Amino acid sequence: MPDPAISWQQVSALVAQRLGLHFPRDRLGELQRGLDSAAGELRLADAGECARQLVAAQLDDAQVEVVASHLTIGETYFFRGEETFAALAAHVLPALTAARRRGDKRLRLWSAGCCSGEEPYSLAILLRQLLPDIDDWRISILATDINPRFLRKASDAVYGAWSFRGTSGEFRERYFRRADDGRYALVPEIKRMVTFAPLNLVDSAPAIPAAATGAMDLILCRNVLMYFTADQAAAVAARLHRSLREDGWLVVAPCEVSQPLFARFTPHTFDGAILYRRRSAASAEARCGRALPAASTSAASVPAAAPAITASPPAGPRRRARLRGPRMAWVPAVGCRPEPAPASSAGPDVRALSARAHRLANEGRLGEALACCDQWVACDRLDAGAHYLRAMVLIELGEMAQANAALQRSIYLEPDAAMTCFALGNLERRLGRRQAAMRHFQHALALLQRQPPEAGVVLSDGITAHQMITLVRQLLDAGDAA
Ligand SMILES: C[S@@+](CC[C@H](N)C(=O)[O-])C[C@H]1O[C@@H](n2cnc3c(N)ncnc32)[C@H](O)[C@@H]1O
Repeated sequence: MPDPAISWQQVSALVAQRLGLHFPRDRLGELQRGLDSAAGELRLADAGECARQLVAAQLDDAQVEVVASHLTIGETYFFRGEETFAALAAHVLPALTAARRRGDKRLRLWSAGCCSGEEPYSLAILLRQLLPDIDDWRISILATDINPRFLRKASDAVYGAWSFRGTSGEFRERYFRRADDGRYALVPEIKRMVTFAPLNLVDSAPAIPAAATGAMDLILCRNVLMYFTADQAAAVAARLHRSLREDGWLVVAPCEVSQPLFARFTPHTFDGAILYRRRSAASAEARCGRALPAASTSAASVPAAAPAITASPPAGPRRRARLRGPRMAWVPAVGCRPEPAPASSAGPDVRALSARAHRLANEGRLGEALACCDQWVACDRLDAGAHYLRAMVLIELGEMAQANAALQRSIYLEPDAAMTCFALGNLERRLGRRQAAMRHFQHALALLQRQPPEAGVVLSDGITAHQMITLVRQLLDAGDAA
């Protein structure tokens, strides 16, 4: 329970002001736990002392960074957001490079909130794939984050298998070398393309000069603003707008797409992705991508049944279609299952329904996937997997209450399914019910620990128990659900 002697609302307001991070009333316990863990590192007595010093402005910038590192979420992987990278590879980067090829062959890119570097390195790899004459170009990729620990990992550029969960083994072989400890070290020619710097996006007097973040052709700021207060998100959106060249592009996560927040930009829709472009007098609408009428660009307007991706980054991420969009940042994709042979008997074939539902979900045809799940459930009410897949589809459709009910049915039928506990935790977390989320994550962890580390987790996309344990622990350690 939060310490009553401290005004945690005041601490929360200060954290919002200094770091942008949003800890509303029902997440104050989480804030306290984060400060408790920061206090340990800062050699302060406890969260209360840490909070008092923060409020009294007695922590220097380095100490505030330590606090930030205990309050931020570090979740990322290579080529995260398949649709987004497909749009960058097929449309945005070719258009940008074609324009610059006629001029000074210069490109400026920024990954704002880069975490441990997977995102900017994915951009670097993509550019190397797209530009055979890359050595003739002046390409600057700036990558910034508030968390110095993440930046250290990014600069080291050595990654565990979990960072490759969105990419193929071939991709890893091509751009990484096996390190002595079994992890994977990025090859130097990609590593040197990215410059890392600490930057607090809500800092009005940032440590790096404004010129360093100006005149950008492309900014990725994904899965960052979703943790910010509305005011700070708006301030950062304005700042990113100023940092772009006319006609430059801004990429946020699908769940962050918002007409009011990005009103200064023109939204462009690609297969399964919406990207923003800074308006300019000269910019002809839809020169690249299809411009959307502004009023229709909320997260909910992302076409639920968008056609499958037509272009993937070359030789990069797995090309297999998957349940689209990280609207629920922590829900792994549902696996593709082979279609079984048609049933010989009359009446609905449950196996065929299951395979079809998975296929439709993986292709992002969510309306059809839901209808198919409904049919599947009607045929076999006791199949935990049917309720689980239905819940995943409902989450993608933003139907959280129905998704919750479906997950409850699934866990009732199969109480030992760690993925269902994990999904319930994510759902609760998403709804701001932190304690319930924690309970589910702890439960998921306990179930996973009963399995051999290399065993595949039931209902997952081929994820091993060890990988899931790492992810769940990361959530717990991050103070998100300690
Ligand atoms: C969930 S990660 C997203 C990483 C990556 N952009 C992606 O989408 O995979 C969010 C990142 O935002 C960073 N962050 C949070 N608050 C920030 C702030 N005020 N300034 C800069 N970075 C911040 C966190 O440290 C974390 O690395």
